Amino acid sequence: MAEAFNEITLSADKETRYREVAAEIASVLEGERNVTARMATLASMLANSFDHYFWTGFYVVDPDKPDELVVGPYQGTLGCLRITFGKGVCGAAAARRRTQLVPDVHAFPGHIACDSRSLSEIVVPVIGPSGDLIAVFDVDSDRSAAFDEVDQRWLESILTETFAR
Ligand code: SME
Repeated sequence: MAEAFNEITLSADKETRYREVAAEIASVLEGERNVTARMATLASMLANSFDHYFWTGFYVVDPDKPDELVVGPYQGTLGCLRITFGKGVCGAAAARRRTQLVPDVHAFPGHIACDSRSLSEIVVPVIGPSGDLIAVFDVDSDRSAAFDEVDQRWLESILTETFAR
């Protein structure tokens, strides 16, 4: 891994920091095709780069139950193991294949509270090379309204670069 990657050397500006982290992720993962390794590395690098991230990880489409998500690589406190499509924020992102930006989780119908400290979240669908949904990427914050369109744009871009090619 590039020695330059740590939170002290990253820029304070969020947009610039995402650009730097995206480049580091691409560099670290170059040549590694294993999907679990890619998910674990991405979750670790993002979680360690942003103070507003509290829980960071993947819910993967279960090949045995295609309407169910099962927890994948993550960083943070204990996450729920399974989420049915359509349930909670992750299930909504999976069913609609659209990013869910939720400034107040308590205002989201059916929100699943794995950790009561989570106040806001963003969930981004993860599309594989064949165009199929393979997972969702969930980031929760212990701050309210922690995520905005900068987080959305960069996370969508990083996930496309990492999993759709
Ligand atoms: N809050 C999510 C559940 C997953 S955890 O928070 C880790 C949801 O409603 O989908």
